[in-house]
Amino acid sequence: MSSFSDLELSFIAIVLSIIAVYLHVPIKEIKIPAWLRQLGKNGGSSTTSGLGLSKDFVELMKESGKKVVIFYGSQTGTAEEYATRIAKEIKARYGLSSLVCNPEDYEFNVLDQLPSTSLAIFILATYGEGEPTDNATSLLDFLSTSLPPLANLKYLIFGLGNSTYQHFCATSRLADSSFQAAGATRIGPLGEGDDDGSLEEDYLSWKDTIWSSLENQLGWVEGGSSTASIPDFQVKELPISKVHPSVYQGELSKQALTNKRGIYDSKNPFIAPVLEAKELFQGGDRNCVSMKFDIRGSGMKYTTGDHVGIWPLNPDNEVERFLHVLGLASKRDTVIDIVSLDPALAKVPTPSPTTFESVLRYYLDISQLASRQAIHSFARFAPSERAREVLERLGTDRDAYHVEVAEKGLRLAEVLMLAAGDDLTAAPGMVTSTSWDVPFSHILSCVPRLQPRFYSISSSSRMYPDEIHVTVVVAKSRPSEAGNMIFGLGSNLLLNLKQAITGDGLAKVENNSTNEEKDSKGPIYTLTGPQNKYHKNQIYHLPIHTRPSKFRLPKSVKIPLILIGPGTGVSPYLAFLQDRLHLARRAKSTKGPNALRDWAPITLFYGCRRSDQDFLYRDEWREIEREMEGVFRMYVAFSREEDGKKVYVQDLVREQQGVVVESLVAKKGYLYICGDAKHMAREVEATLEDIIGKSLGGGPAEGGREMRVLKERKRVLLDVWS
Ligand SMILES: Cc1cc2nc3c(=O)[nH]c(=O)nc-3n(C[C@H](O)[C@H](O)[C@H](O)COP(=O)(O)OP(=O)(O)OC[C@H]3O[C@@H](n4cnc5c(N)ncnc54)[C@H](O)[C@@H]3O)c2cc1C
Ligand SMILES: Cc1cc2nc3c(=O)[nH]c(=O)nc-3n(C[C@H](O)[C@H](O)[C@H](O)COP(=O)(O)O)c2cc1C
Repeated sequence: MSSFSDLELSFIAIVLSIIAVYLHVPIKEIKIPAWLRQLGKNGGSSTTSGLGLSKDFVELMKESGKKVVIFYGSQTGTAEEYATRIAKEIKARYGLSSLVCNPEDYEFNVLDQLPSTSLAIFILATYGEGEPTDNATSLLDFLSTSLPPLANLKYLIFGLGNSTYQHFCATSRLADSSFQAAGATRIGPLGEGDDDGSLEEDYLSWKDTIWSSLENQLGWVEGGSSTASIPDFQVKELPISKVHPSVYQGELSKQALTNKRGIYDSKNPFIAPVLEAKELFQGGDRNCVSMKFDIRGSGMKYTTGDHVGIWPLNPDNEVERFLHVLGLASKRDTVIDIVSLDPALAKVPTPSPTTFESVLRYYLDISQLASRQAIHSFARFAPSERAREVLERLGTDRDAYHVEVAEKGLRLAEVLMLAAGDDLTAAPGMVTSTSWDVPFSHILSCVPRLQPRFYSISSSSRMYPDEIHVTVVVAKSRPSEAGNMIFGLGSNLLLNLKQAITGDGLAKVENNSTNEEKDSKGPIYTLTGPQNKYHKNQIYHLPIHTRPSKFRLPKSVKIPLILIGPGTGVSPYLAFLQDRLHLARRAKSTKGPNALRDWAPITLFYGCRRSDQDFLYRDEWREIEREMEGVFRMYVAFSREEDGKKVYVQDLVREQQGVVVESLVAKKGYLYICGDAKHMAREVEATLEDIIGKSLGGGPAEGGREMRVLKERKRVLLDVWS
């Protein structure tokens, strides 16, 4: 098998896949070599990975003649995208094909067998309290044990993190120190990308430093291949209608396509009916949407404190713009079959067969800021010399990119229009924008997949086992004063859905409106979904799946709770309080009105801007306070009240330090922090360190030590995002 060249292997893969599509034979039923299989995660055995590949990646590399293995630890796709990008660059520069691996599909006890002529690259994100992503847990577990000597191992690491979190890039740093301790050789600098700054720029700078190391230390020779222009995918137009039952029109799974149930999870989200949607803010120019999903009969379960992933789609405006820029508007419904030409390197990012429009509406994130690398990669397809020059400049000159693209919040299609000299303010489709002749495989290669947006569930699984509620503030901001208004993709979808359901404030935007007009009103989405699957029996639906979190209540009601969460950080606390209220009602009905006498206090520190605008769930808290009198107590900080005073949750925590220290330290309670990671969580933690330190007779250093212990004991828990 190893005697096949890369090209031959790719050819075999294509032929087999095409046969499968034409014969309508499930590809799994065609006998192909193990390492060529790249279908779903089902069917993995103890000796094969979830992809149907051998779990022994060293063996796999030998079989396929690969010298590079790249592992990614990724939750929302960025590390995975970087892994694929670096694999492609290695192929383009050195003609070497890499094995790009999801670590959960492989075993690591063979790491010491990797020949010294090979290279292992780890692209690892960090989550939570410095924890690995779900798919890298087993890798980090392995690295935390006593490793065998790894003198042969040559490796590179790039960590993805966010410096607003206390444990910045903890996973990649831990991996690096474990490899170092085992005698492995890192052949380039330890890369770290900061999502609070410019992750993309950090990645690009790191990547630029590694080439000389690869050449000097591994003897790789640039120009080893002419594969730079070899596409990752073959995209073939099929002579069938989009309504053919095999064609994905935006469905996220086979089960959704065939209307079968299956188990609902991130691979097969449940298309959940929306029970209720309402606006929670009472004035001002911001929106916060409460949305309730019905999960009855789905078999989906959740526990109070969990997260829900909601799958967005791109707004009409962006889809139209992209279709026109690519000259695909008239072919929007053309059915395409997509096959990976190197399955170990690039997985097909969308279901297939599908249509051009479905890819742009449901599967790729065409709404996000265009990355510098993606812009650069389009230069070779430019329709004019001027356009090529613009893309070359924006793709290579950091400052120009920053001013002309990032500060304006331009998406990829807008950058292409800008480069071609088209009018960016005109409505897509109403003017003829320059049509770019870009192979669709290139779009699939460089535009990231659309990812679910996660929300802390604000309903209790005890009180509402058949419903999932969310509290979502609608993201809308300008990246700079001169920039366009940027509307967050997922939260504006929920706002649009709410407007459609309630008929209230529905933005009336005609198709021929200019971008400025659209800007003021927000994006419009096709809410009916693929084949009307998001609008059935007059009820709107959205695909959702649940994800367990570590944000859990203690079982005993006799343990004091301190809950700190301004803004939508209060979302899971509504769920916590509903949970306790449910138990309180039961206790009172069996033991009488004094049933809560020995319950420990629950203290909520909540913050918002103004009491008359964005005070979330005011009525609900009042009702809980009434029913749980003597147990539940709430303190509210207003940061923009008319009296001009700015009070934040940390100020109230300091004011009530007696309660906090008594509950957390003396009474061994639990403390929770939820919401903004960048400012709030830091400030609150600093305040806690100070007051706890003082209570122990020391200062913030003692407080910090105590907080670390409490975190390890899972009595201080954070659910924060930025
Ligand atoms: C565990 C967890 C729990 C969460 N819980 C909640 C919750 O309970 N409630 C809640 O409201 N949120 C919550 N979030 C945040 C939520 O997941 C989303 O991040 C948030 O709703 C914004 O998503 P979006 O799709 O609207 O914005 P996105 O489209 O993802 O955009 C995010 C930001 O990126 C920038 N951006 C996007 N496109 C561009 C562009 N073209 N140019 C420049 N900049 C751009 C903008 O600044 C924008 O605000 C949680 C997050 C996590 C991780
Ligand atoms: C809920 C949440 C928790 C995070 N926790 C940390 C952390 O503890 N340390 C850190 O350095 N980065 C943290 N990050 C930042 C991520 O590592 C970073 O955004 C990364 O780019 C995500 O990569 P991915 O898209 O491949 O999952 C966190 C991000 C989120 C959304």
